[in-house]
Amino acid sequence: MFSLVYRSVATPVFGRTQIKEMLGKARQFNQKNKITGCLLYYKGEFIQYIEGNQIKVLKLFDKIQRDNRHTEVEILSHSHIEGREFKEWHMAYEDFARDNDDLQFLRLLTSSFVDSNSKTLDPNPTSTYFWRTAKRLLNIHSSYRYR
Ligand SMILES: Cc1cc2nc3c(=O)[nH]c(=O)nc-3n(C[C@H](O)[C@H](O)[C@H](O)COP(=O)(O)O)c2cc1C
Repeated sequence: MFSLVYRSVATPVFGRTQIKEMLGKARQFNQKNKITGCLLYYKGEFIQYIEGNQIKVLKLFDKIQRDNRHTEVEILSHSHIEGREFKEWHMAYEDFARDNDDLQFLRLLTSSFVDSNSKTLDPNPTSTYFWRTAKRLLNIHSSYRYR
């Protein structure tokens, strides 16, 4: 089992509506290929965590990297993992559009990373703690659109 985290910048025409449309297809593909993970969209930037079979993850990342709906794709971390963090999520998604107390902590973690353009913050998207927090907070809302 393998995981990969990257960040990127969305092109101006690729907004929330387009992202949700893209996610419909992405989740079908991910389900077929046993890929799970989480996509965060904040202030026009993406941070995505992808996990699954190493070859499948790398093949998918190769496609994602060449996708012209975003630019400046930069890998933040990749590693072998014992088990999945996002077992039942074929790509959880959060764009922080809602005003919601439960998401405040995650927004804070994400914004401090995106705003400062820093890789030294701890926790940051390279850490398991960051994604466990994301999972916990997104789980609270799993009854609607975030699965
Ligand atoms: C930020 C971002 C995240 C994406 N995440 C996924 C994903 O998790 N799974 C997926 O199949 N496609 C994802 N895509 C779409 C792929 O880049 C690509 O369009 C898709 O795999 C279809 O490729 P194909 O038409 O060459 O088969 C993502 C695209 C972007 C811009």
